[in-house]
Amino acid sequence: MTDTILTHCEDRILKITINRPDKKNALTLAMYDQMTAAVEAAQNDSEVRVVTITGTGDAFSSGNDLADFLSHPPTPGDSPAARFLHTIAGAEKPLIAAVNGLAIGIGTTLLLHCDLAYAAVSAKFQLPFVNLALVPEAGSSLLLPQVAGHKKAAELLMLGEMFDPETAREAGLINGVCADVALEQTVMEVSRRLAAKPPEALRLTKALLKDHSGDAGERINKELGHFAHRLESPEAHEAMQAFMEKRLPDFSKFS
Ligand code: COA
Repeated sequence: MTDTILTHCEDRILKITINRPDKKNALTLAMYDQMTAAVEAAQNDSEVRVVTITGTGDAFSSGNDLADFLSHPPTPGDSPAARFLHTIAGAEKPLIAAVNGLAIGIGTTLLLHCDLAYAAVSAKFQLPFVNLALVPEAGSSLLLPQVAGHKKAAELLMLGEMFDPETAREAGLINGVCADVALEQTVMEVSRRLAAKPPEALRLTKALLKDHSGDAGERINKELGHFAHRLESPEAHEAMQAFMEKRLPDFSKFS
């Protein structure tokens, strides 16, 4: 039997590949569990700096396996899909998506939990929940209006039609669109750049970006609290020292 979720670590980047191309990478309960385990393991592995998610074949993911939906409907509390979503929503390390093809349902909504996302020009997106007489999931009813505005979110979630990568970019779901053949290299190149950053500074930056509490005044103080600590950190010492010595900083020994 083929592994439906593949993992591969290279240059401190963990690549998770959804590998069920004959079903357009539809996600089964077991696949959610494997992806959750991979993302969780990456959080605890100091050798991993960045996690990427992509798919094989012409699909990123066609969403939840529809047969599973009927046989094992997700429950409000705990389910493999819910655990996966909570895991990616709470991941401390940078998460990057490479949308290589069809991204339907959770194939699109999971992008809202990635820090960066790039799509191949041939990719297609769809949020078909209403068409299936369902409602949005993955926090998309909150997060999509935040990044896209109400009208765009309503168009994508209420009409439930397929849309192209340019529309996904305008809606804030992805950062950029590349030629199909350039996608993997683009994402690896961005991942390598992130993997070379001071890891704790990166994790704190991500945490601040995802913390929507308080007003600007409180945020200034919260940032300054971190800032003062950061100035005394070994990572910052290396950054300043490298500048003084006119060399590139080396953050590889930090975790
Ligand atoms: N769950 C289960 N099986 C799926 C699936 C899904 N989400 N998406 C695709 N498949 C299966 C098809 O049933 C088909 O299986 P078969 O070869 O055994 O008949 C195979 O994948 C290929 O799909 P097919 O529909 O023939 O390919 P296509 O290129 O014509 O269309 C899609 C691809 C993804 C547009 C279409 O399959 C589709 O709309 N799938 C459902 C998407 C969906 O609603 N997801 C849930 C969101 S909440």
